[in-house]
Amino acid sequence: MLSADLLQTAAKRFGTPLYVYDAAELDAALGRVQSAFAQARIFYAMKANPNMHLLTRLAAAGVGFECVSPGELARAEHLGVPGERLLVNGPAKSDSEYATGARLGATFIVDRAEEVGLLPPGSRALVRVNPALSISTHDHLATGSKASKFGVTLEQAPAVLAALQSAGHAALGLHVHIGSAIRDANDFTAAFERLAELRATTGSVQVLDVGGGWGLDADLHGIAHEARAAAEHFGAELWVEPGRYLVATAGTLLTQVVGTKRTGRNFCLVDAGMTELIRPMMYGAEHPVRPLWEGKQTDVWDIAGPACESGDLLARDVTLSTPERGDLLAIAEAGAYGAAMSSTYLTRPRPAEVLWDNQDWQLIRRRETVQDIWQTEL
Ligand code: LLP
Repeated sequence: MLSADLLQTAAKRFGTPLYVYDAAELDAALGRVQSAFAQARIFYAMKANPNMHLLTRLAAAGVGFECVSPGELARAEHLGVPGERLLVNGPAKSDSEYATGARLGATFIVDRAEEVGLLPPGSRALVRVNPALSISTHDHLATGSKASKFGVTLEQAPAVLAALQSAGHAALGLHVHIGSAIRDANDFTAAFERLAELRATTGSVQVLDVGGGWGLDADLHGIAHEARAAAEHFGAELWVEPGRYLVATAGTLLTQVVGTKRTGRNFCLVDAGMTELIRPMMYGAEHPVRPLWEGKQTDVWDIAGPACESGDLLARDVTLSTPERGDLLAIAEAGAYGAAMSSTYLTRPRPAEVLWDNQDWQLIRRRETVQDIWQTEL
Protein backbone atom coordinates (compact mmCIF):
# COMPACT_ATOMS: atom_id res chain seq x y z
CA MET A 1 0.00 0.00 0.00
CA LEU A 2 1.54 3.32 -1.07
CA SER A 3 1.95 5.84 1.77
CA ALA A 4 -0.29 8.89 2.12
CA ASP A 5 2.77 11.11 1.56
CA LEU A 6 3.57 9.46 -1.74
CA LEU A 7 -0.03 9.77 -2.89
CA GLN A 8 -0.06 13.46 -1.93
CA THR A 9 3.08 14.01 -3.99
CA ALA A 10 1.57 12.29 -7.00
CA ALA A 11 -1.60 14.37 -6.81
CA LYS A 12 0.42 17.58 -6.57
CA ARG A 13 2.64 16.63 -9.50
CA PHE A 14 0.06 15.14 -11.90
CA GLY A 15 -3.29 16.57 -10.72
CA THR A 16 -6.52 14.71 -9.99
CA PRO A 17 -8.40 12.57 -10.76
CA LEU A 18 -5.41 10.30 -11.13
CA TYR A 19 -4.83 6.58 -11.42
CA VAL A 20 -1.74 5.49 -9.50
CA TYR A 21 -0.18 2.01 -9.64
CA ASP A 22 2.40 0.35 -7.44
CA ALA A 23 4.92 -1.69 -9.44
CA ALA A 24 5.86 -3.78 -6.39
CA GLU A 25 2.25 -4.87 -5.93
CA LEU A 26 1.92 -5.68 -9.66
CA ASP A 27 4.95 -7.96 -9.35
CA ALA A 28 3.65 -9.47 -6.11
CA ALA A 29 0.26 -10.31 -7.65
CA LEU A 30 1.94 -12.00 -10.62
CA GLY A 31 4.18 -13.88 -8.17
CA ARG A 32 1.12 -15.13 -6.27
CA VAL A 33 -0.47 -16.40 -9.47
CA GLN A 34 2.75 -18.01 -10.70
CA SER A 35 3.28 -19.78 -7.41
CA ALA A 36 -0.30 -21.08 -7.12
CA PHE A 37 -0.57 -22.10 -10.78
CA ALA A 38 3.03 -23.26 -11.10
CA GLN A 39 2.55 -25.52 -14.12
CA ALA A 40 -0.04 -23.41 -15.93
CA ARG A 41 0.32 -21.07 -18.89
CA ILE A 42 -0.88 -17.58 -17.97
CA PHE A 43 -2.80 -15.41 -20.43
CA TYR A 44 -3.60 -11.98 -18.92
CA ALA A 45 -7.13 -10.85 -19.81
CA MET A 46 -6.01 -7.43 -20.99
CA LYS A 47 -9.51 -5.96 -20.81
CA ALA A 48 -8.84 -5.48 -17.09
CA ASN A 49 -6.19 -2.88 -17.84
CA PRO A 50 -4.70 -2.58 -21.31
CA ASN A 51 -2.17 0.17 -20.54
CA MET A 52 0.80 -0.46 -22.88
CA HIS A 53 3.31 0.07 -20.10
CA LEU A 54 1.67 -2.58 -17.91
CA LEU A 55 1.35 -4.97 -20.88
CA THR A 56 5.04 -4.50 -21.68
CA ARG A 57 5.97 -5.46 -18.12
CA LEU A 58 3.76 -8.55 -18.22
CA ALA A 59 4.99 -9.59 -21.67
CA ALA A 60 8.59 -9.30 -20.43
CA ALA A 61 7.66 -11.62 -17.56
CA GLY A 62 6.59 -14.24 -20.12
CA VAL A 63 2.85 -13.76 -19.68
CA GLY A 64 0.54 -14.18 -22.69
CA PHE A 65 -2.67 -12.28 -23.44
CA GLU A 66 -6.34 -12.95 -23.91
CA CYS A 67 -7.70 -10.48 -26.48
CA VAL A 68 -11.37 -9.77 -27.14
CA SER A 69 -11.39 -7.00 -29.74
CA PRO A 70 -9.48 -5.81 -32.81
CA GLY A 71 -7.99 -3.08 -30.62
CA GLU A 72 -6.70 -5.51 -28.01
CA LEU A 73 -5.18 -7.65 -30.77
CA ALA A 74 -3.54 -4.54 -32.19
CA ARG A 75 -1.97 -3.86 -28.79
CA ALA A 76 -0.56 -7.39 -28.64
CA GLU A 77 0.76 -7.15 -32.19
CA HIS A 78 2.31 -3.76 -31.48
CA LEU A 79 4.18 -5.32 -28.56
CA GLY A 80 5.40 -8.18 -30.79
CA VAL A 81 3.83 -10.90 -28.64
CA PRO A 82 4.27 -14.27 -30.39
CA GLY A 83 1.12 -16.10 -31.52
CA GLU A 84 1.49 -19.01 -29.12
CA ARG A 85 1.03 -16.52 -26.31
CA LEU A 86 -2.22 -15.09 -27.69
CA LEU A 87 -5.86 -16.04 -27.32
CA VAL A 88 -8.61 -14.54 -29.46
CA ASN A 89 -11.88 -14.64 -27.59
CA GLY A 90 -15.33 -13.08 -27.77
CA PRO A 91 -18.94 -14.03 -28.43
CA ALA A 92 -19.19 -12.11 -31.71
CA LYS A 93 -15.78 -11.90 -33.38
CA SER A 94 -15.38 -9.75 -36.47
CA ASP A 95 -13.72 -10.78 -39.74
CA SER A 96 -10.73 -8.69 -38.79
CA GLU A 97 -10.28 -10.61 -35.52
CA TYR A 98 -10.26 -13.95 -37.37
CA ALA A 99 -7.79 -12.59 -39.93
CA THR A 100 -5.44 -10.98 -37.40
CA GLY A 101 -5.59 -13.97 -35.06
CA ALA A 102 -4.68 -16.30 -37.92
CA ARG A 103 -1.88 -14.03 -39.15
CA LEU A 104 -0.38 -13.92 -35.66
CA GLY A 105 -0.85 -17.66 -35.06
CA ALA A 106 -3.11 -17.16 -32.03
CA THR A 107 -5.48 -19.71 -30.51
CA PHE A 108 -9.20 -19.03 -30.93
CA ILE A 109 -11.80 -19.62 -28.25
CA VAL A 110 -14.83 -20.94 -30.12
CA ASP A 111 -18.01 -19.63 -28.51
CA ARG A 112 -20.65 -21.24 -30.75
CA ALA A 113 -20.88 -24.05 -33.34
CA GLU A 114 -21.21 -21.65 -36.29
CA GLU A 115 -17.66 -20.42 -35.66
CA VAL A 116 -16.19 -23.72 -36.88
CA GLY A 117 -17.02 -22.55 -40.41
CA LEU A 118 -15.81 -19.00 -39.82
CA LEU A 119 -12.31 -19.83 -38.55
CA PRO A 120 -9.45 -19.40 -41.02
CA PRO A 121 -8.18 -22.78 -42.34
CA GLY A 122 -6.00 -24.79 -39.95
CA SER A 123 -6.79 -22.67 -36.86
CA ARG A 124 -5.85 -23.65 -33.33
CA ALA A 125 -8.99 -23.62 -31.20
CA LEU A 126 -10.57 -24.35 -27.84
CA VAL A 127 -14.30 -24.83 -27.31
CA ARG A 128 -15.85 -22.65 -24.62
CA VAL A 129 -18.31 -24.57 -22.48
CA ASN A 130 -21.04 -22.97 -20.38
CA PRO A 131 -21.68 -25.23 -17.36
CA ALA A 132 -25.05 -23.53 -16.66
CA LEU A 133 -24.57 -23.01 -12.94
CA SER A 134 -25.67 -20.33 -10.55
CA ILE A 135 -22.63 -18.10 -9.96
CA SER A 136 -21.91 -16.08 -6.82
CA THR A 137 -21.38 -12.67 -8.38
CA HIS A 138 -23.33 -9.74 -9.82
CA ASP A 139 -25.63 -10.81 -12.68
CA HIS A 140 -23.68 -8.78 -15.24
CA LEU A 141 -20.51 -10.64 -14.26
CA ALA A 142 -21.86 -14.21 -14.39
CA THR A 143 -20.87 -15.87 -17.67
CA GLY A 144 -21.30 -19.53 -16.71
CA SER A 145 -25.00 -19.28 -15.94
CA LYS A 146 -27.71 -20.71 -18.14
CA ALA A 147 -29.03 -17.30 -19.15
CA SER A 148 -25.65 -15.89 -20.20
CA LYS A 149 -24.73 -15.50 -23.87
CA PHE A 150 -21.40 -17.30 -23.54
CA GLY A 151 -20.18 -20.70 -24.68
CA VAL A 152 -21.85 -23.84 -25.95
CA THR A 153 -23.84 -26.19 -23.73
CA LEU A 154 -22.27 -29.28 -22.17
CA GLU A 155 -24.37 -31.34 -24.54
CA GLN A 156 -23.14 -29.45 -27.63
CA ALA A 157 -19.44 -29.36 -26.70
CA PRO A 158 -18.28 -32.82 -27.94
CA ALA A 159 -19.88 -32.29 -31.34
CA VAL A 160 -18.25 -28.87 -31.73
CA LEU A 161 -14.84 -30.36 -30.89
CA ALA A 162 -15.42 -33.13 -33.42
CA ALA A 163 -16.58 -30.61 -36.04
CA LEU A 164 -13.38 -28.59 -35.53
CA GLN A 165 -11.33 -31.71 -36.13
CA SER A 166 -13.15 -32.76 -39.25
CA ALA A 167 -12.87 -29.23 -40.63
CA GLY A 168 -9.08 -29.56 -40.40
CA HIS A 169 -8.54 -27.27 -37.41
CA ALA A 170 -6.36 -28.12 -34.43
CA ALA A 171 -8.98 -28.79 -31.77
CA LEU A 172 -6.78 -28.25 -28.71
CA GLY A 173 -9.37 -28.71 -26.01
CA LEU A 174 -11.90 -27.02 -23.76
CA HIS A 175 -12.36 -23.62 -22.17
CA VAL A 176 -14.51 -22.51 -19.25
CA HIS A 177 -14.82 -19.06 -17.67
CA ILE A 178 -17.79 -18.79 -15.35
CA GLY A 179 -17.66 -15.12 -14.41
CA SER A 180 -15.77 -12.36 -12.68
CA ALA A 181 -15.28 -11.25 -9.06
CA ILE A 182 -16.61 -14.64 -7.95
CA ARG A 183 -17.23 -14.74 -4.21
CA ASP A 184 -17.50 -18.48 -3.56
CA ALA A 185 -14.61 -20.67 -4.74
CA ASN A 186 -16.96 -23.68 -4.72
CA ASP A 187 -18.39 -22.29 -7.97
CA PHE A 188 -15.11 -23.17 -9.69
CA THR A 189 -15.17 -26.69 -8.25
CA ALA A 190 -18.73 -27.17 -9.48
CA ALA A 191 -17.83 -25.91 -12.96
CA PHE A 192 -14.77 -28.15 -13.23
CA GLU A 193 -16.85 -31.13 -12.09
CA ARG A 194 -19.44 -30.52 -14.78
CA LEU A 195 -16.72 -30.22 -17.39
CA ALA A 196 -15.09 -33.43 -16.21
CA GLU A 197 -18.28 -35.27 -17.19
CA LEU A 198 -17.37 -34.55 -20.81
CA ARG A 199 -14.25 -36.71 -20.62
CA ALA A 200 -16.34 -39.83 -21.28
CA THR A 201 -17.34 -38.44 -24.70
CA THR A 202 -14.38 -36.29 -25.71
CA GLY A 203 -11.57 -38.51 -24.47
CA SER A 204 -8.34 -36.78 -23.46
CA VAL A 205 -7.61 -33.30 -24.79
CA GLN A 206 -4.40 -31.29 -25.09
CA VAL A 207 -5.49 -28.12 -23.25
CA LEU A 208 -7.92 -27.19 -20.50
CA ASP A 209 -8.29 -23.42 -20.14
CA VAL A 210 -10.13 -22.49 -16.93
CA GLY A 211 -10.30 -18.71 -17.52
CA GLY A 212 -10.08 -16.24 -14.64
CA GLY A 213 -12.69 -14.66 -12.39
CA TRP A 214 -10.92 -15.06 -9.06
CA GLY A 215 -12.01 -12.64 -6.37
CA LEU A 216 -9.28 -10.55 -4.79
CA ASP A 217 -9.36 -12.49 -1.53
CA ALA A 218 -9.67 -15.85 -3.29
CA ASP A 219 -7.75 -18.89 -2.10
CA LEU A 220 -5.67 -19.24 -5.26
CA HIS A 221 -3.99 -22.43 -4.10
CA GLY A 222 -7.40 -24.03 -3.52
CA ILE A 223 -8.70 -23.01 -6.95
CA ALA A 224 -5.42 -24.10 -8.57
CA HIS A 225 -5.66 -27.49 -6.89
CA GLU A 226 -9.12 -28.09 -8.35
CA ALA A 227 -8.08 -26.77 -11.77
CA ARG A 228 -5.04 -29.05 -11.86
CA ALA A 229 -7.17 -32.04 -10.96
CA ALA A 230 -9.57 -31.21 -13.79
CA ALA A 231 -6.70 -30.81 -16.26
CA GLU A 232 -5.17 -34.12 -15.18
CA HIS A 233 -8.53 -35.80 -15.65
CA PHE A 234 -8.35 -34.77 -19.31
CA GLY A 235 -4.62 -35.46 -19.57
CA ALA A 236 -4.41 -31.78 -20.50
CA GLU A 237 -2.04 -28.86 -20.03
CA LEU A 238 -3.64 -26.17 -17.80
CA TRP A 239 -4.14 -22.61 -19.06
CA VAL A 240 -5.51 -19.68 -17.02
CA GLU A 241 -6.72 -16.16 -17.92
CA PRO A 242 -6.62 -13.88 -14.87
CA GLY A 243 -7.51 -10.23 -15.38
CA ARG A 244 -8.60 -8.53 -12.17
CA TYR A 245 -6.35 -10.54 -9.86
CA LEU A 246 -3.17 -9.38 -11.63
CA VAL A 247 -3.82 -5.63 -11.59
CA ALA A 248 -6.65 -4.62 -9.22
CA THR A 249 -4.81 -4.30 -5.92
CA ALA A 250 -1.92 -2.38 -7.49
CA GLY A 251 -4.18 0.46 -8.61
CA THR A 252 -5.73 3.38 -6.73
CA LEU A 253 -7.92 6.19 -7.98
CA LEU A 254 -6.93 9.46 -6.36
CA THR A 255 -9.63 12.08 -6.18
CA GLN A 256 -9.92 15.48 -4.57
CA VAL A 257 -12.72 16.75 -2.37
CA VAL A 258 -14.63 19.55 -4.09
CA GLY A 259 -16.93 20.22 -1.15
CA THR A 260 -19.63 18.79 1.04
CA LYS A 261 -23.32 19.09 1.55
CA ARG A 262 -25.76 17.78 4.10
CA THR A 263 -29.30 17.19 2.91
CA GLY A 264 -31.16 13.89 3.44
CA ARG A 265 -27.69 12.35 3.48
CA ASN A 266 -24.16 13.60 3.91
CA PHE A 267 -22.45 14.00 0.58
CA CYS A 268 -18.72 14.28 0.11
CA LEU A 269 -18.41 15.67 -3.43
CA VAL A 270 -15.25 14.70 -5.29
CA ASP A 271 -13.68 15.32 -8.70
CA ALA A 272 -13.99 11.69 -9.88
CA GLY A 273 -17.12 9.69 -10.49
CA MET A 274 -18.81 7.35 -12.93
CA THR A 275 -16.67 8.60 -15.83
CA GLU A 276 -13.46 7.60 -14.03
CA LEU A 277 -14.69 4.50 -12.15
CA ILE A 278 -18.03 3.08 -13.22
CA ARG A 279 -17.87 -0.18 -11.23
CA PRO A 280 -19.82 0.99 -8.15
CA MET A 281 -22.62 2.29 -10.36
CA MET A 282 -22.60 -0.62 -12.82
CA TYR A 283 -22.09 -3.62 -10.55
CA GLY A 284 -22.69 -2.24 -7.06
CA ALA A 285 -18.96 -2.82 -6.53
CA GLU A 286 -17.52 -1.78 -3.18
CA HIS A 287 -14.06 -0.26 -3.35
CA PRO A 288 -12.21 0.48 -0.11
CA VAL A 289 -12.06 4.24 0.51
CA ARG A 290 -9.10 5.77 2.31
CA PRO A 291 -9.14 9.43 3.35
CA LEU A 292 -5.75 11.15 3.22
CA TRP A 293 -6.74 13.71 5.85
CA GLU A 294 -7.17 13.60 9.58
CA GLY A 295 -9.82 14.90 11.92
CA LYS A 296 -11.71 14.00 15.06
CA GLN A 297 -15.39 14.48 14.25
CA THR A 298 -16.59 11.49 12.20
CA ASP A 299 -19.80 11.01 10.27
CA VAL A 300 -21.24 8.72 7.64
CA TRP A 301 -20.82 9.99 4.09
CA ASP A 302 -21.73 9.10 0.53
CA ILE A 303 -18.92 9.81 -1.94
CA ALA A 304 -20.49 11.49 -4.97
CA GLY A 305 -18.98 12.46 -8.31
CA PRO A 306 -19.47 15.54 -10.50
CA ALA A 307 -21.81 14.01 -13.10
CA CYS A 308 -25.40 15.17 -13.41
CA GLU A 309 -26.68 11.66 -12.66
CA SER A 310 -28.07 10.50 -9.35
CA GLY A 311 -26.29 7.16 -9.69
CA ASP A 312 -22.90 8.88 -9.90
CA LEU A 313 -21.61 7.61 -6.55
CA LEU A 314 -18.26 6.01 -5.78
CA ALA A 315 -19.25 4.68 -2.36
CA ARG A 316 -22.07 4.84 0.15
CA ASP A 317 -22.09 4.95 3.95
CA VAL A 318 -18.40 5.56 4.49
CA THR A 319 -17.32 6.72 7.94
CA LEU A 320 -14.98 9.69 7.54
CA SER A 321 -13.78 12.63 9.57
CA THR A 322 -15.15 15.87 8.12
CA PRO A 323 -13.76 16.38 4.60
CA GLU A 324 -12.64 19.78 3.44
CA ARG A 325 -12.25 21.17 -0.05
CA GLY A 326 -8.86 20.12 -1.41
CA ASP A 327 -8.53 16.99 0.76
CA LEU A 328 -7.55 13.81 -1.06
CA LEU A 329 -9.39 10.53 -1.10
CA ALA A 330 -7.88 7.25 -2.32
CA ILE A 331 -10.23 4.68 -3.84
CA ALA A 332 -8.45 1.34 -3.62
CA GLU A 333 -8.53 -1.91 -5.64
CA ALA A 334 -9.10 0.20 -8.75
CA GLY A 335 -6.36 -1.18 -11.00
CA ALA A 336 -8.73 -3.52 -12.86
CA TYR A 337 -11.65 -2.29 -14.96
CA GLY A 338 -11.07 1.24 -13.60
CA ALA A 339 -9.08 3.24 -16.14
CA ALA A 340 -10.01 0.57 -18.70
CA MET A 341 -13.71 1.42 -18.41
CA SER A 342 -13.33 5.17 -17.95
CA SER A 343 -15.25 7.25 -20.44
CA THR A 344 -15.38 10.70 -21.94
CA TYR A 345 -19.07 11.19 -21.13
CA LEU A 346 -19.75 14.86 -20.40
CA THR A 347 -16.59 15.66 -22.39
CA ARG A 348 -14.57 14.74 -19.34
CA PRO A 349 -10.99 13.90 -20.34
CA ARG A 350 -9.82 10.54 -19.01
CA PRO A 351 -7.33 10.72 -16.13
CA ALA A 352 -3.57 10.39 -16.28
CA GLU A 353 -2.02 7.15 -15.03
CA VAL A 354 1.24 6.97 -13.09
CA LEU A 355 3.36 4.10 -11.82
CA TRP A 356 5.47 4.13 -8.64
CA ASP A 357 8.57 2.19 -9.63
CA ASN A 358 12.24 2.42 -8.66
CA GLN A 359 11.40 5.06 -6.04
CA ASP A 360 9.93 7.44 -8.57
CA TRP A 361 6.67 8.29 -10.29
CA GLN A 362 6.51 7.50 -13.97
CA LEU A 363 3.77 8.87 -16.20
CA ILE A 364 2.35 5.87 -18.10
CA ARG A 365 -0.59 7.66 -19.69
CA ARG A 366 -0.90 11.39 -20.10
CA ARG A 367 -4.09 13.10 -19.10
CA GLU A 368 -6.45 13.40 -22.03
CA THR A 369 -7.38 16.92 -23.16
CA VAL A 370 -10.81 18.10 -24.23
CA GLN A 371 -9.34 18.64 -27.70
CA ASP A 372 -8.34 14.95 -27.77
CA ILE A 373 -12.00 14.16 -27.23
CA TRP A 374 -13.48 16.28 -30.01
CA GLN A 375 -10.68 15.96 -32.56
CA THR A 376 -12.40 13.03 -34.31
CA GLU A 377 -15.63 15.03 -34.77
CA LEU A 378 -16.20 16.66 -38.17
N1 LLP B 1 -11.36 -14.81 -19.42
C1 LLP B 1 -12.53 -14.49 -20.02
C2 LLP B 1 -13.03 -15.32 -21.10
C3 LLP B 1 -13.23 -13.35 -19.60
O1 LLP B 1 -14.38 -13.04 -20.18
C4 LLP B 1 -12.72 -12.55 -18.55
C5 LLP B 1 -13.44 -11.37 -18.07
C6 LLP B 1 -11.51 -12.94 -17.95
C7 LLP B 1 -10.85 -14.07 -18.41
C8 LLP B 1 -10.90 -12.20 -16.80
O2 LLP B 1 -11.72 -12.21 -15.69
P1 LLP B 1 -11.20 -11.60 -14.30
O3 LLP B 1 -10.08 -12.49 -13.83
O4 LLP B 1 -10.73 -10.23 -14.57
O5 LLP B 1 -12.38 -11.62 -13.41
N2 LLP B 1 -15.99 -5.09 -16.14
C9 LLP B 1 -16.21 -6.06 -15.09
C10 LLP B 1 -15.48 -7.36 -15.34
C11 LLP B 1 -15.82 -8.01 -16.66
C12 LLP B 1 -15.04 -9.26 -16.91
C13 LLP B 1 -15.26 -9.77 -18.28
N3 LLP B 1 -14.53 -10.95 -18.59
C14 LLP B 1 -15.83 -5.45 -13.75
O6 LLP B 1 -15.51 -4.27 -13.69
O7 LLP B 1 -15.89 -6.12 -12.72
